[in-house]
Amino acid sequence: MRPIAIMGAMQEELAGLRPHLTGAQTITVGSREVTSGTWHGHNVVLVLSRIGKVAAATTATALIERFDVKEIVFTGVAGGLSPQVSVGDMVVATEFIQHDMDASPLFPPLEVPLYGQAHFPTDINMRQSLQIAAEGVLKNPSQWIHPDVLRALNVHAPKVHSGLVLSGDRFVATSLESQALQQRLPLALAVEMEGAAVAQVCHDYGVPFAAVRTISDRADDAATMAFTRFINEVASRYTFALLDAWLGQK
Ligand code: ADE
Repeated sequence: MRPIAIMGAMQEELAGLRPHLTGAQTITVGSREVTSGTWHGHNVVLVLSRIGKVAAATTATALIERFDVKEIVFTGVAGGLSPQVSVGDMVVATEFIQHDMDASPLFPPLEVPLYGQAHFPTDINMRQSLQIAAEGVLKNPSQWIHPDVLRALNVHAPKVHSGLVLSGDRFVATSLESQALQQRLPLALAVEMEGAAVAQVCHDYGVPFAAVRTISDRADDAATMAFTRFINEVASRYTFALLDAWLGQK
């Protein structure tokens, strides 16, 4: 049975997952520790991609070439861009754009050269089942996160959204930059640093890909503090709940 790959960018997000794999074994490939095991009867490989598009792309390539993974799901956090998207919400990506790609005037801004496209869609079946799993988790967030923590982070009735997510090699941490991204790409729900790179690799290899991001901050002047608290207190428990529900229903 070809494994399902689970990728995350930060140790804090993935740390809570390893103990849930049965028969876990870890090997190192290309400086990445890849843990294989089973979860709800599925063969799974779990890997920390590290941060940024290059790290994510090399990790995805290693997963496909060395582990013959049948699909890749990326879970992690993102900064909210759309005014509809609040801290504690989840975003299921329907497509990705690299917001820092610009080979103009040789190619249109945002277009990935020689691909003829800026948008890289995710797999429809994966994202539909992840949406159902995410809605299940957020129906009762205090099952996963202590209510005091949710209150302190201002998380009330969190929602699941689906739509465009942006990736770039920048942590967006000023209102100025966040507003500029919203003006340029008004459909974008959130911004992070890896998804579009994995989407491009999966496009190259014909491997189904999906991504779910929990909103840790609003990519504004307060983003750094919000991000740090969220990563430490919330991210890994949400990620576990989401994947446990998704793999359990698969
Ligand atoms: N991941 C989480 N928050 C982010 C932000 N504000 N910018 C880029 N990536 C992020």
